[in-house]
Amino acid sequence: MVNSSNKQSTESAKSSIDKKRKCLFKGFSRLTLAERFSRLIEMGALTQKDVRYLKSGGIKKTELAEKFIENVIGYFQIPLGVATNFCIDGKRMVIPMAVEETSIIAAASKTARWINEYGSINTSIKGSGVIGQIQISQVQNLENLKKVILENERDWIKKVHQEVIPSMYKRGGGIKGFKVRTLPSGGEEDKTQEKMAVIHVIVDTCNAMGANIVNQVCEYLRTLIESHTNEKVSVCIVSNLSDSCLTSAEIVMSGLDPQLMEKIEKASLFAEKDPYRAATSNKGVMNGIDAVLIATGNDWRAVSAGVHAYSARGGQYQSITRWRVKKDQLYGYFSAPLMVGTVGGMTRLHPTSKICLKMLGIKEASQLSRICAAVGLVQNLGALRALTTVGIIEGHMKLHIQNLTLGAGAKGWEIPVIQKHLEIIFGFKNRISLSQAVEALKALRKKTANPMETLKKIREKHQKQALATLKKIKAKHEKWIDK
Ligand code: MEV
Repeated sequence: MVNSSNKQSTESAKSSIDKKRKCLFKGFSRLTLAERFSRLIEMGALTQKDVRYLKSGGIKKTELAEKFIENVIGYFQIPLGVATNFCIDGKRMVIPMAVEETSIIAAASKTARWINEYGSINTSIKGSGVIGQIQISQVQNLENLKKVILENERDWIKKVHQEVIPSMYKRGGGIKGFKVRTLPSGGEEDKTQEKMAVIHVIVDTCNAMGANIVNQVCEYLRTLIESHTNEKVSVCIVSNLSDSCLTSAEIVMSGLDPQLMEKIEKASLFAEKDPYRAATSNKGVMNGIDAVLIATGNDWRAVSAGVHAYSARGGQYQSITRWRVKKDQLYGYFSAPLMVGTVGGMTRLHPTSKICLKMLGIKEASQLSRICAAVGLVQNLGALRALTTVGIIEGHMKLHIQNLTLGAGAKGWEIPVIQKHLEIIFGFKNRISLSQAVEALKALRKKTANPMETLKKIREKHQKQALATLKKIKAKHEKWIDK
């Protein structure tokens, strides 16, 4: 039993960490790299040793890579950042995100702060286990197969626990049960009534993502099934649509502008009803989830496959999130199978993912999956808010301009000059392209002319074009009104 004074002191320690983190998130995006490290140390998210490792550029020796893949030639490094302001299930968190796309981390942090002001994020998990599939492509005697499985279920489960996953069983994992499904065995042209049987084996894999374990369990069961029946097993493999366990996140917000809430609900309905929009909306959700999965060394392809398959469970591909306005409140929902691990695979072997898991302050896979659900839903809200108000370009613009400037080849002092030039053009054109960055850089490097004067002329040219376009639109509009 937990001593009540101990419990109280743990609670008060947690709440003081919470308060401290809230303060330390303030102005985080404007800090220098060194200041960011100091803040993260102060928050208890990183240690001096972690900072030394990150500053040194991360993993260099290829020994680890050799353990995982073939024909190694090095590592591919993508940017690692942290999303701030997250408060999930009442706990403030720093979210590590490994991602190359501009604005994802900024949008997540900004939206999390908005939610803190007007509402909350809560998560939950229903069910457990990972599904393994054993296919019998042409079942000879379905009734007998079902009978044999039912008769031997307990004995087979015991055997698997003893011989395949003894230590996982000791930690509380193991087979939860079997389920037999049937499907037509032939293709579209097939007129026979033959069936394939698919046996689902549900395995609680504790804190491991579980694919390897489940595959081993299924292959072990193959021998037992074949020796007890006249059936021939064709395929044994984990299912990434492991809907035996669903992770959900819910956001509730009050006090928002009613028009904005309505727009968000309408945008949600668009993604629920139209697969073309659903694909993009879900891509936005996965922007957040995948970034956390990559940072923590998880198999993001498996999770993505599961989320997309679950999005099509009703027969039509839909958005994985829902937003509704109910009695002056905005409600957002996310629910999907999220197969993640905090042990096994890269999670504890890659020094960066180890640091990221530590930064989250979690040990259990269920905690990580809840964080992923929350981040995905927050990311979606950020996208919907931008899309229904200022549009997506504005948020991306600052870094987009930076990327265009670097992409055009600007160096040193040229960078701020070109950036400013592009920002001004964006101000009246509302769009910007690489060719404009290249054009500006060429002008800047021309030895003969006064480069600043040339840049000014270029801007005037673009401004004239923008004004001419505006005039045309206005004239068209007036004609339309006259009609
Ligand atoms: C871009 O990476 C993601 C968005 O397109 C998501 C969405 O449209 O909801 C902004």
